[in-house]
Amino acid sequence: MPSFDVVGVGLNATDTLILLSRFPAYGGKAPFEREVLSPGGQVASAMATCAKLGMRAKYIGTLGDDERGRVQLDSLRASGINLDDIEIRANCANQSAYILVDHSTGERTVLWHRDECLRIDPASLTPEKITCARLLHIDGHDTPAVSRAAETARRHQIPVTVAVDTIYPGFDRVLPNVDYLIASSEFPGRWTHEPDPYRALAMIQNEYGMRVAAMTLGADGALARVDGQYIYSPGFVVDCIDTTGAGDVFHGAFCYAVIESMPVREALEFSNAMAALNCTALGARGHIAGVQEARDFALSGGRRSNPRFEQRP
Ligand SMILES: Nc1ncnc2c1ncn2[C@@H]1O[C@H](COP(=O)(O)OP(=O)(O)OP(=O)(O)O)[C@@H](O)[C@H]1O
Ligand SMILES: [Mg+2]
Repeated sequence: MPSFDVVGVGLNATDTLILLSRFPAYGGKAPFEREVLSPGGQVASAMATCAKLGMRAKYIGTLGDDERGRVQLDSLRASGINLDDIEIRANCANQSAYILVDHSTGERTVLWHRDECLRIDPASLTPEKITCARLLHIDGHDTPAVSRAAETARRHQIPVTVAVDTIYPGFDRVLPNVDYLIASSEFPGRWTHEPDPYRALAMIQNEYGMRVAAMTLGADGALARVDGQYIYSPGFVVDCIDTTGAGDVFHGAFCYAVIESMPVREALEFSNAMAALNCTALGARGHIAGVQEARDFALSGGRRSNPRFEQRP
């Protein structure tokens, strides 16, 4: 019996959210309302989501030994995630992000920096660090490390979910060991040079053979290809304060859905609901709902269906 439901290997970051009443023009000048320091980062926030959903979650990654590293560590500790295998790097700044949040829409623009001193060493990811869990969740940034983790998981028949936002060199070595791809809206087109998202998802899935190839679509929800069929799940309508971390919460919720053996349509709906609820408050982990709140909202919440995705097969 594995000790954990899910282990996540990848990024954390400490965000400075900068609240703007309007987005500045290039070369322009704009006042900001306030700034807020807040924990985030792809895999760390996904694991915080899993923990909130009642799963036994473990996070493996690196932290700087500065104030931002401490803010992140305090938040991870408070969320009840197992941190036995994180590494705190000496004389190293934690990954940081400056996130411009446009108050009129809640949309965020991210400027981020990660020092080389934070790189995860693939050799540190010994098999027992992966086989202690029922599911592995990764991102793409430290590609050799997540590649090794995914290889180990595949060898032990542990399902792998991956969150990928951009092109990483060497990511083609990760994809063959992925079971559930959850890409950002830009990734499929950029990876395949195919602008049609349906064809792009099919190309990736046909080449690498993952069970589910999916992409998130911001306020429009998510699109997935499974068993040769497409499933479009519209987004939920909320009073959107800040979209920061919406993707990360979606990924964490999707991990929960896989472990709970939800059918893919239900998994997308649940993950959309969790992500939308997180947009109702400021910060990457602004409002991570519990299972009951998300399920209730998934039943009662209004949907925003984009006809572009409704009309395809
Ligand atoms: N404005 C919004 N209103 C409701 N739901 C949203 C909104 N924006 C995003 N979401 C939800 O969050 C999910 C992920 O959003 P999106 O595709 O924008 O990810 P992302 O911007 O790549 O993620 P991140 O901000 O974490 O880097 C969507 O599939 C949707 O369910
Ligand atoms: Mg977004």
